[in-house]
Amino acid sequence: MKPSLPPPPAISLPPPETTGGMPVMSALKLRISSRSFSPRPLTDAMLSRLLWAANGINRPETGQRTAPSACNWQEVDLYVIREDGAYRYDPQKHRLIGVVAGDLRPAAGVQAFVAKAPVVLAFVADLARMRGADADGRSFYPPCDTGYVSANVYLFCASEGLATVALVSVDKPALQKRLGLPVDQVVTLTQPVGYPADPKN
Ligand SMILES: Cc1cc2nc3c(=O)[nH]c(=O)nc-3n(C[C@H](O)[C@H](O)[C@H](O)COP(=O)(O)O)c2cc1C
Repeated sequence: MKPSLPPPPAISLPPPETTGGMPVMSALKLRISSRSFSPRPLTDAMLSRLLWAANGINRPETGQRTAPSACNWQEVDLYVIREDGAYRYDPQKHRLIGVVAGDLRPAAGVQAFVAKAPVVLAFVADLARMRGADADGRSFYPPCDTGYVSANVYLFCASEGLATVALVSVDKPALQKRLGLPVDQVVTLTQPVGYPADPKN
């Protein structure tokens, strides 16, 4: 058995630039699913803005987020899967915490383009945070709250000229295992993000 590598070190992201971007109506006009990615990496500054827009803290006084969540459970975590490893986004410190070494992108979607995107976001619902939820709530709210985060990603990408697509064609239990997640932290969706592929290539 191969010895497992230690997780990659944490990455401090630059503070997100939270001004600018397109008017929301213009971004809605451009919102689209794209399945063709350039290998060009996202800069830390772009990743910082992407993660903040997706599910960062927009009200530091309460710790509340850019995406709503049922009962403010904030049960959806974002994992950033790149060639150099997988990371969990820590919105409080606006940093990436190394989780697993190695390239897990091929495990983040069954379609071939997924492994070509420089970043694949994985949405993980931590069911343990949903205090008081009944069985119906535990099955309904995580995908619902994931959808709000995913929609933020779509709109941010439209505004920035980035390509993205939400994916359910994922072996979610296998990805959960590769990320080393316990049984009550479940993958709900993945979403590659990157620059659009050059049509000439
Ligand atoms: C929850 C969800 C899951 C999706 N899963 C996949 C997928 O696994 N593979 C894929 O290629 N597209 C997937 N899509 C993208 C849809 O196919 C796409 O949104 C639809 O064709 C409409 O195109 P548009 O987003 O450009 O309007 C998914 C979209 C959503 C909202």
